[in-house]
Amino acid sequence: KSCVLAYSGGLDTSVILGWLQDQGYECHCVYVDLGQPCEDRQAIMKKAKDCGAASSHLIDVREELCRDFAFPVLAWQAKYEQIYLLGTSIARPLISKKCLQIAREVGATAYAHGATGKGNDQCRFQLAAEALDPKVEMIAPWRIKAFRDAFPGRTELIAYCNERNIPVKASTSKPYSSDENVLHISYEAGQLEELDVNGVELVDFGMGVSPQEAPDKAEKVTIGFESGVPVSLNGKTVSALEMVESLNQIGGRNGVGRIDMVENRFVGMKSRGVYEAPGMTILYDALMYIEQLTMDRDLMHLRDRMAPEVAEMVYYGFWYTPKMDALMAFIKEAQKPCTGEVTLQLYKGNIIVDSRTSPNSLYDAEIATMEGGGSYNQDDAEGFLRIQGLPSRVQGSVAPRPY
Ligand code: ARG
Ligand code: SIN
Repeated sequence: KSCVLAYSGGLDTSVILGWLQDQGYECHCVYVDLGQPCEDRQAIMKKAKDCGAASSHLIDVREELCRDFAFPVLAWQAKYEQIYLLGTSIARPLISKKCLQIAREVGATAYAHGATGKGNDQCRFQLAAEALDPKVEMIAPWRIKAFRDAFPGRTELIAYCNERNIPVKASTSKPYSSDENVLHISYEAGQLEELDVNGVELVDFGMGVSPQEAPDKAEKVTIGFESGVPVSLNGKTVSALEMVESLNQIGGRNGVGRIDMVENRFVGMKSRGVYEAPGMTILYDALMYIEQLTMDRDLMHLRDRMAPEVAEMVYYGFWYTPKMDALMAFIKEAQKPCTGEVTLQLYKGNIIVDSRTSPNSLYDAEIATMEGGGSYNQDDAEGFLRIQGLPSRVQGSVAPRPY
């Protein structure tokens, strides 16, 4: 029996690597580099081999994550339950894709991961994997009672590692757990489970300062888009990854992009999460200002009605589906005219538009002007409102409203 394991080198997946071997699996470890903090990737590869992995693989997907996963979701302006930018959700299908590519290379038929049975991540890993390889055997040890019985808590996980000489870092145990990639950091669990704990005060944020600590002077940043895709930063053409990384720095130092929410997990429970996503937060606003100039009104309103649906699909893990393919084709078409440049001012967590310009701008000062003249004829509004008001006038006479 042979499996791939989505391996981070942390406590859980280290134990899972040992346990899978105890169950008779040959294990191939895949470390998918999404920009999570890590001092030494080669050391993680070596650790996997030292712990008995048949092979270990390091795959840098940071560019692909930003370009092919995060940017299409940005084009949708998709946010889960109004505010969550989906930084973890977006990354999961890509992890599955990479793990299955390695599985095919090494001839493994099973795919193991360390997500719990209570969360969203198991859904995303599995739904993506099964869509790509319907025959894959999923192994989620945390959903297996024997595994949970063997490892009821951290103590047992650490004891197992000590027994097997698996190096575990005496992790400076924070009062919550976090998940970081180039798009964001999420913080959940531990003391954050108490809703009376102030999340943004508790969390030791990794990407930036608080609005209170941010400079007293606004910082300007200019972002260029081509058909809804961010392509330039302060006049310089940059890759998707460079864009996100640079904006994380710029936004981070100005206190941009922190949220604290209670969200509905796919498995039904409500869960409290704190997030920071400075770069992506800026990009969502920046693109909105370009859309305001360039996107047709009715198309924009339709997109806005469908965006929560896209967010839900990404959050639940339905990335590799015909519906998502069709939605992605739609947004590509809708974003075609969304080319231009926007300058924003970042000030203590706020994003304030400074100026915007587009070769495809539909904004016509000549039509919009409040000054006399212009090409808009106010007489036309007479007939427009006579027709628009017809149903109301009939209603008002048949069933008068008290006022
Ligand atoms: N609640 C967020 C989401 O579902 C973050 C999940 C974080 N995952 C983790 N393994 N720490 O997307
Ligand atoms: C987990 O339960 O593995 C992490 C949290 C989540 O997936 O929602």
